[in-house]
Amino acid sequence: MRRGAWWLTPVLTFLGLGAFVVYSTWAAFQGVHYHYGNYLSPFYSPEIFGATPHAMFGVKPSWIPDWLPFTPALLILWAPAGFRFTCYYYRGAYYKAFWADPPSCAVGEPRAHYWGERKFPLIFQNIHRYFLYLALIFLVFLAHDAWKAFWFDGKFGIGLGSIVLSANVFFLAGYTFGCHSLRHLIGGRCDELANKPVQCVAYNACSKLNKRHMLFAWCSLFVVGFSDVYVRMLSMGVWTDFRFF
Ligand code: FES
Repeated sequence: MRRGAWWLTPVLTFLGLGAFVVYSTWAAFQGVHYHYGNYLSPFYSPEIFGATPHAMFGVKPSWIPDWLPFTPALLILWAPAGFRFTCYYYRGAYYKAFWADPPSCAVGEPRAHYWGERKFPLIFQNIHRYFLYLALIFLVFLAHDAWKAFWFDGKFGIGLGSIVLSANVFFLAGYTFGCHSLRHLIGGRCDELANKPVQCVAYNACSKLNKRHMLFAWCSLFVVGFSDVYVRMLSMGVWTDFRFF
């Protein structure tokens, strides 16, 4: 009985999230064109084993069997993917867009029983707080990549890629620092924050970002995907990096 275009948001979510999942899966299996000079695609960072100068521990070790699909992205992407998949905002969005559970607020569901998150398998969504800890570590690596993106042959400079990789860190930080689990971790367990000044400031900052969580979720999704496209295009010689100086 609900009037209005309630279906529009789920359809846009389906298209946006679906396109990102298809592209990122494709990109993760490529294993080539993921770096260009001092630029490293965020899908491949940190590069634990790999053939580029960004690799932390050298090339693929012999103990990884040849029959196993291998790219540096496949080693690490499960962590940021798990972080997004279990995010409280995305859960609300893709339950509606992909599972119609429910299709939208105050719109009937196409099934009789409620699939709650208190039972298997959705109870595993509670793992989100642990993915948050990993996401915070990833943010440090990505910030380091953004810093490296300003150094060309040992000299400081700014290229369009430096801006793109920095924007990626900015939006991912906005998304991660506004996480509901982080907010709870900082101050959600305290009865009173007023007499804990540092915690109080951090909690308020987190709450401010939390109010824009959906915005940061989409912006960071778009920018992280574009960062990979940008580095890939440079590496393939399709685009040329614009250097400011
Ligand atoms: Fe969205 Fe944690 S709730 S990242």
